[in-house]
Amino acid sequence: MSHVPVMLDEVLHALEPRDGALYIDGTFGAGGYSRGILSAAETRLIGIDRDPSVLPAADQLTRAAGKRFAFVQAAFGDMENVVKELGGEFVDGIVLDIGVSSMQIDQAERGFSFMRAGPLDMRMSDKGPTAADAVNRLGEADLADIFYVYGEERKSRRVAKFIVEARKDSPIETTDRLAEIISNSLGGKHSKIHPATKSFQALRIFVNDELGELAKALSAAEKLLSPLGRLVVVTFHSLEDRMVKTFLRSRCGMSGGGGSRHVPAVEAGPAPSFRLLSRKAVVAGAAETDVNPRARSAKLRLGVRTEAEAWSDKPQHPGHVVSLDRLEMML
Ligand SMILES: C[S@@+](CC[C@H](N)C(=O)[O-])C[C@H]1O[C@@H](n2cnc3c(N)ncnc32)[C@H](O)[C@@H]1O
Repeated sequence: MSHVPVMLDEVLHALEPRDGALYIDGTFGAGGYSRGILSAAETRLIGIDRDPSVLPAADQLTRAAGKRFAFVQAAFGDMENVVKELGGEFVDGIVLDIGVSSMQIDQAERGFSFMRAGPLDMRMSDKGPTAADAVNRLGEADLADIFYVYGEERKSRRVAKFIVEARKDSPIETTDRLAEIISNSLGGKHSKIHPATKSFQALRIFVNDELGELAKALSAAEKLLSPLGRLVVVTFHSLEDRMVKTFLRSRCGMSGGGGSRHVPAVEAGPAPSFRLLSRKAVVAGAAETDVNPRARSAKLRLGVRTEAEAWSDKPQHPGHVVSLDRLEMML
């Protein structure tokens, strides 16, 4: 199934594409946002995706849009280098649609889904350690941390213990075997949600360093956007949304929780590098969620770049887990 873009109208409304302006679509996927941005005005656009399987869709758009569109296979955390290598310096808008695409989930051989038997891979790109590397090589405590922090799995220690026990028999190489081990570890009656949902999500976030990438992208966006440039981020779970919200609020000069009617939230510090048009995230309307269940958890946040300099501190992510580099060194 091809990917149906989530909240496309809201994204275009937030980005306000203008003639002659240059944009980045950091998560090209099936190109839904990119086509929308190129059709909305006489824009120029850089499409980025780390997944080589999107190349045919990118080539098709290159043929249709000519010089207005360039695609680069890269991680969006590296977007500053991408722009530099294309000879640019600043951009007028950046959009990120975080997460996996329907194509990635649907391809059993990519190993993203516990519903489809396949190799335990889960990488969006073709580089780096796989989910099988993580479950077979990491220690029990590190695995438990990953399930707890990235999956918010309350029984993370139990899941990790069962995995470490099972891999003594033979390495865990497939999605269905891992899903069964996790189901056994959680036992009892299950809710409507499959017991492996949270742990699979956690492994995917770990293997793709998703929060690290988001932190890098937020920092890069602050440097790349010209004054009045727009950053539009669509997220699908709370860890990512919290990162975007905290980043934008802090860059606006608001404290983490924001202020109140009586206590202004402005703190002494560098001049705000972003301005918010709304404190609240935009969510999808019923007309969309009725036909596309993926849209139910989507949240869109928008920041408008000011003229102030980029702040020197780097955005943080709540990733107190073993690093992907450590796993890579173990292989
Ligand atoms: C939800 S899909 C995007 C769909 C797209 N907006 C559309 O309309 O077709 C997310 C895409 O982002 C890519 N992606 C995720 N994280 C990435 C990263 N750090 N760097 C580059 N691409 C990434 C995935 O490979 C996937 O193709």
